[in-house]
Amino acid sequence: MDQQIEELPEYIHINQNDFSYRKHKKQKEEDIAICECKYNANDPDSACGERCLNVLTSTECTPNYCPCGVYCKNQRFQKCAYAETKLFKTQGRGWGLLADKDIKAGQFIIEYCGEVISWKEAKRRSQAYETQGLKDAFIISLNGSESIDATKKGSLARFINHSCQPNCETRKWNVLGEIRVGIFAKEDILKGTELGYDYNFEWYGGAKVRCLCGAVSCSGFLGAKSRGFQPLKLMFRILFDAAVDKNASVESLLDRQEVGGGEVGVEL
Ligand SMILES: C[S@@+](CC[C@H](N)C(=O)[O-])C[C@H]1O[C@@H](n2cnc3c(N)ncnc32)[C@H](O)[C@@H]1O
Ligand SMILES: [Zn+2]
Ligand SMILES: [Zn+2]
Ligand SMILES: [Zn+2]
Repeated sequence: MDQQIEELPEYIHINQNDFSYRKHKKQKEEDIAICECKYNANDPDSACGERCLNVLTSTECTPNYCPCGVYCKNQRFQKCAYAETKLFKTQGRGWGLLADKDIKAGQFIIEYCGEVISWKEAKRRSQAYETQGLKDAFIISLNGSESIDATKKGSLARFINHSCQPNCETRKWNVLGEIRVGIFAKEDILKGTELGYDYNFEWYGGAKVRCLCGAVSCSGFLGAKSRGFQPLKLMFRILFDAAVDKNASVESLLDRQEVGGGEVGVEL
């Protein structure tokens, strides 16, 4: 077996979200959105391309209800219509994912799959993972009350690292009545380029991790603005230090919050 594959961390590979915690919603017939597209063989974009009403509202067409039938192009999550990607070992950031073929701006790259759990359970798990010493965090927010945890079960999207100058972004789509998270290209991406999206607002690791993305505009830390970052306690510590040492720079105040390998548990 390939040396690199042998070293891969253990996780269960899935390409559909896992609904062990609650049932998958059943789409009611009256909730099915039907677009007005008409398939025209001379215009491939006619079959649920950019002008499709469902595409414009980030909703996938429901099979057997779309007027374009088998020609419908708006079922990418359902058909796992992913871009070609490859795992590789980065320097200092663990595993990463790169484009294995040129990717066009706006292209759907892959779905971020994992276990769908409540936000409360996500908070409990992220603390438990930290206690167990798991260094990499894989929980991202799904909607106002739920998260996706790709720690034990996930798709290759779990290996996409954070970048402060990202070539990808997350987008939420309604697929058969459930919200799903996709990674999309923000720009044209050449084969061999590492994929990255901004973890801010979506991701939480519970610990402060120094960012090694290498971007000129690097903000210094991962997910610093995300909901799970729990910044209050950190803010209190910084304000306390600033009050004690009035000459300290912001950078030095931030550095003081670090423990050991550049990480700090921020439990409230
Ligand atoms: C969703 S995982 C990404 C895959 C991870 N590199 C791996 O090997 O499994 C997120 C974790 O990757 C690491 N990571 C991601 N982006 C990083 C960055 N820009 N700088 C430093 N570490 C990063 C952090 O340990 C973070 O908790
Ligand atoms: Zn359509
Ligand atoms: Zn369609
Ligand atoms: Zn950065």
